[in-house]
Amino acid sequence: MNFSNKLIEIITDYAESKNVDITCRLVGSMAKNTSLMGKSDIDIFMTFPLTYSEDKLKEYGLEFGNYCIEKVGGVPEIRYASHPYTTGIIDGYEVDFVPCYKISDSSELKSAVDRTILHTDYIQSHMTEDETRQVLLLKKFMGSVNTYGANYKVSGFSGYLCELLILEYHSFENVVYHAANHWHNRYRIDLEEYGTSDKFKDPLIVIDPVDKNRNVASALSMQKFSEFIVACRNFLSDPKKDYFRDRVISVSGDDLCEEFRKRGTDCYVLSFNVPDLPDDVIYPQINKTMNSFVKVSEMYDFRVIENSYYIDSDNIAHIILEYEFSRLSNVKIHNGPQIRFHENGVNFKNKYPNAYIRGNKWISISERKYTSVPEMIENIVKKENRSILKLGKNVKDEITENYVLSSVFDLIDEENNEDYEQLFMHLFPDYKLVR
Ligand code: CTP
Ligand code: MG
Repeated sequence: MNFSNKLIEIITDYAESKNVDITCRLVGSMAKNTSLMGKSDIDIFMTFPLTYSEDKLKEYGLEFGNYCIEKVGGVPEIRYASHPYTTGIIDGYEVDFVPCYKISDSSELKSAVDRTILHTDYIQSHMTEDETRQVLLLKKFMGSVNTYGANYKVSGFSGYLCELLILEYHSFENVVYHAANHWHNRYRIDLEEYGTSDKFKDPLIVIDPVDKNRNVASALSMQKFSEFIVACRNFLSDPKKDYFRDRVISVSGDDLCEEFRKRGTDCYVLSFNVPDLPDDVIYPQINKTMNSFVKVSEMYDFRVIENSYYIDSDNIAHIILEYEFSRLSNVKIHNGPQIRFHENGVNFKNKYPNAYIRGNKWISISERKYTSVPEMIENIVKKENRSILKLGKNVKDEITENYVLSSVFDLIDEENNEDYEQLFMHLFPDYKLVR
């Protein structure tokens, strides 16, 4: 608190010296008493009167944030939410400086971050001290079962969502009980009884008490929603302390190879460089690219057992495609019309002179386009063929020009330990607590 007050003072003085009329305020979990030690950032918002233009707001916001971070010896970095803001690591704390408008209710909203002030007010005025501690338990639990964080990479529960769950159910245990026993797809929570939940189709619908037209859980994926429910059930049947510890999944390269060998699958990894763009821009693109490879593979009869991706610390994306088999026969069966349709049969025979009868229909044996996964991939990524794929726009050329296709065993040989864990986690989601 002392530290953030100091930062606020620096910014306020500087703004005053430049004749800019702002109020600075600590928001987010620090202000709501729901921050986890060593995990939460410090969120400082600079509120501008509605009379300032958006351009001015951006310009001053970045300037003041940079000034403050440099003044206390940190290195500023620009990030992007609905508009750019400055962030920096100072004394081991991650501090975000975000410009926003001073609004008193959601009808005045100009950008998504403007709500944050309203959220802070709402939680501060509605949450008891005991409930703030219940939030900590819930966040810690979510952290160890890997469902905490509303960023695209996790697609889980945001801090504010955890707070609203506690306001609804009052205690951690009661959240867990309800999730385990009552939650289902499109489950609704509407603390202020606005009655606006009909218009949302997400797995979990939690109407924002400060904005009746927003679902606070809109970033939550079906996957993380399900994983949380199962984690709650598992916790209730075996409430061990692991659920509140940082998760440690340690797996050696040998273990991992053994796991793949046991599966007996053909697992390939497609690797390529990704440009240095914000996570929330690049992750959706890799996800889309991966899904497209899966779809096209299946179209050519290469069945995919499991797929996943991660981006390593050198900014290389790895798309993992685990196939039932990677080599197919040179020919495939092509189904024709039933014998009872005389004319269709004649047409089919004309087109496929070698067609013959199987049971009640015509079939023909035709040549496959691709008989192995590497051959297929090599061809579909070519510039002239790649329109068959839906590739992320900032990675398509890199994939076409510089992709590397390796077997999962080669990748395991090269990667360092930290990256194995990511690879493992994605393919076999939290096997200790969630399964
Ligand atoms: N916020 C939001 N929806 C999100 C992310 C953020 O509404 N998906 C708003 C919330 O009002 C939140 C504030 O922005 O309190 C700050 O965001 P963040 O630091 O991500 O969340 P905290 O609540 O501070 O939680 P943490 O302890 O993880 O920092
Ligand atoms: Mg925060």
